[in-house]
Amino acid sequence: MKVRKAIIPAAGLGTRFLPFSKAVPKEMLPVLDKPAIQYIVEEAVASGIEDIIIVTGKNKRSIEDHFDKNAELELYLQSTGKLDKLKLIKDVTNIANIYYVRQKEALGLGDAILTARSFIGNEPFAVLLGDMIMDDSQPSTKQLINVYQKQKAPVIAVEQVDRSEIGNYGIVLGQQMDDRLYRVHTLVEKPQTEISSNMAIMGRYILEPRIFEILSNTKPGLGKEIQLTDALQTLAREQSLYAYLHEGKLYDVGNKLGYLKVSIEWCLKDKEIRGPFYTYLKELLAEKE
Ligand code: UTP
Repeated sequence: MKVRKAIIPAAGLGTRFLPFSKAVPKEMLPVLDKPAIQYIVEEAVASGIEDIIIVTGKNKRSIEDHFDKNAELELYLQSTGKLDKLKLIKDVTNIANIYYVRQKEALGLGDAILTARSFIGNEPFAVLLGDMIMDDSQPSTKQLINVYQKQKAPVIAVEQVDRSEIGNYGIVLGQQMDDRLYRVHTLVEKPQTEISSNMAIMGRYILEPRIFEILSNTKPGLGKEIQLTDALQTLAREQSLYAYLHEGKLYDVGNKLGYLKVSIEWCLKDKEIRGPFYTYLKELLAEKE
């Protein structure tokens, strides 16, 4: 079955980015000249997704404003002949069919996904976390859709992380099927004790509606939040669930180091500022040595 819909959960409190995220969503952090969430919507569209639902919450109104039409600004850019800029903002407005639903309380990623249940109905769907953006390789969501269509079972993107970082991620254990594919048997959210895997869940999923039933019976777990990882563990006990070592890299914009890394890498890729920025970095490093 075709994967046409996507959920982008963006209702979290973003405590790792306080005080910035007190009034401004971390999903709106600028990476070069676009807010992080725009890259995520672009990835969904490039993966063939037609309808997107963004789960928002308190203090997240600027996400809706960003994808909405701004008639006054359009008129200004038109009348002053700034037509390249006009195209930029019109493209954002017309990027996809975007819908919004509010999560009343930030009760966890699992609860955010459950909030979008009636929008999805009875078909498979993608989940793209609102604070993780990917590099410019083939869209991770597209890679997962390809796996889903072959295996006909839910699949999640994973990356191998450094052992010292295992406690920051959901970790999966499974049986290797080929170079990149694993059949998952165990998932642990942010393990605090030794675990024999470094495969971390990286914020991209293809799921089926069965997960909603499981989520609605999932009790709060780590951090008293309804954890998607716990629901996936229940799913893995009853049917096939795959993990795919995706090509490329996903960056977590929701923590300071991840945000700085992605900002610097994007600057070094931008043809306009790459040159002067590189010179600046070289001079800065020489100064500090
Ligand atoms: P995170 O766990 O990274 O986000 O959730 P957080 O809880 O906002 O961040 P910290 O840990 O307090 O800094 C991953 C994604 O899921 C969304 C977040 O907005 C983020 O895009 N999320 C998380 C929700 O939509 N609702 C929630 O209750 C929790």
